[in-house]
Amino acid sequence: MTAKPIIITLDGWSSCGKSTLAKALAKELGYVFVDSGAMYRAVTLYLLRNDIDIANEQQVQQALTKIELGFVFNPARGASDILLNGENVESLIREMKVAEQVSKVATLSAVRKFAVQQQQRLGAAKGIVMDGRDIGTVVFPQAELKIFMTADRETRVRRRYLELAATDPGISEEAVRENLARRDYMDANREESPLRQAPDAKVLDNTNLSPEEQFKIALLWAREAIG
Ligand code: DC
Repeated sequence: MTAKPIIITLDGWSSCGKSTLAKALAKELGYVFVDSGAMYRAVTLYLLRNDIDIANEQQVQQALTKIELGFVFNPARGASDILLNGENVESLIREMKVAEQVSKVATLSAVRKFAVQQQQRLGAAKGIVMDGRDIGTVVFPQAELKIFMTADRETRVRRRYLELAATDPGISEEAVRENLARRDYMDANREESPLRQAPDAKVLDNTNLSPEEQFKIALLWAREAIG
């Protein structure tokens, strides 16, 4: 008998390796991996490109009707790249320009509604690993396995800095530190769907874990949940 597919959610602070773990789990289990942060980032990119005033709810609503998000599998990354109205914007959405605005955009309730609807559609058939901030609390409160990831801030700053410096040699560690502190604050303190640990989530603090060690732990949890 083949095991029934489940939903695995991975929420947690910025830059604690959620996507890396989610991707590895999905690959091992033959599940779909969805990086929900990429959806907020792609919306942000659209709003920036079109000079939309994010304080103007009507303008934002109007803009959302013109946005179509999609995913295309990128074999080189072993994960899906995000498409914004058909354009592959996977690398553009990782730039500082977007990182600086995305937390603010993610506070807008129209944007959250837009993203959550699409996320729920993507998970309708289960067999999915989705990472984000509110996936276990709001998007899939019924998920069979919820993981809450954390790591201390300096560890996360270092990891994000190294990641960004690989493509942007001009980046300073201090700028990354400030951006992360601001994002942590906004993620945890926004009114709508703030970052919270679901009461039934399993906590994974990876400050002192290698990617392999954390993968082993999460895979064990996943196998237990799948049954
Ligand atoms: O995971 P990330 O850094 O790519 O996420 C980008 C931003 O989007 C981050 O500031 C928080 C927000 N986000 C969110 O509010 N809800 C999600 N489910 C995923 C991301």
